[in-house]
Amino acid sequence: MKITSTEFVKSSFSEQDWPRTNLPEVAFLGRSNVGKSSLINSLLGVKGLARTSSTPGRTQALNFFLVNRRYHFVDLPGYGYARVPRAIRESWGEIVTTYLAKRESLVLLIQIVDSRHEPTKLDLQLREWLTSYAKPHLTVATKSDKLSQNELRKNIGRARASLGAQGEGEIVAYSAVTGHGRERVWRAIEEALTVSQSPN
Ligand code: GTP
Ligand code: MG
Repeated sequence: MKITSTEFVKSSFSEQDWPRTNLPEVAFLGRSNVGKSSLINSLLGVKGLARTSSTPGRTQALNFFLVNRRYHFVDLPGYGYARVPRAIRESWGEIVTTYLAKRESLVLLIQIVDSRHEPTKLDLQLREWLTSYAKPHLTVATKSDKLSQNELRKNIGRARASLGAQGEGEIVAYSAVTGHGRERVWRAIEEALTVSQSPN
């Protein structure tokens, strides 16, 4: 995909605040600090568009980015960070599950896991929920630059087994540092955008 323009649209904390458009949306979801914002920047080839941080829990709203004036990328707040106050954890659930359940223009949900670790309980719960809602989704195992080829192969196999992913294409190893996996993720995004635009 050739990126001709990227633009931060807004941060939304509630449904009333979502951008009022029906542009197709690709949302990025995963544990706190797993690398969601870095993945967005890496896919778009723009440093610092989505704010990244080594402190978990950086992103606490839904952040909408307009790409090529044609679709949105949505950076969702990370889950599973125990040290955030309970009220925030609860509002996370509400903000994110409302978005996932209600946003009709959502065409693809990218779930991000850490390639170094086995998927967490929350990763698995989320996956189950997505499957039950029949949302089109793709899993990206990021930070692959931190592993040797062998370890990566082994870990992807393990993640595939525990997430119950079917077919080769379902878990893509990625590195925001080297760009490894970029083509494959874009292919999945393009496909989802095409499907969403076909009549019927
Ligand atoms: P929250 O918004 O807090 O939920 O975090 P996030 O999931 O958006 O993570 P973010 O992109 O801010 O990245 C967290 C940390 O991981 C940062 O220090 C990044 O530089 C680092 N990181 C992200 N992706 C990669 C990667 O592919 N390789 C390496 N080596 N580091 C990465
Ligand atoms: Mg973030």
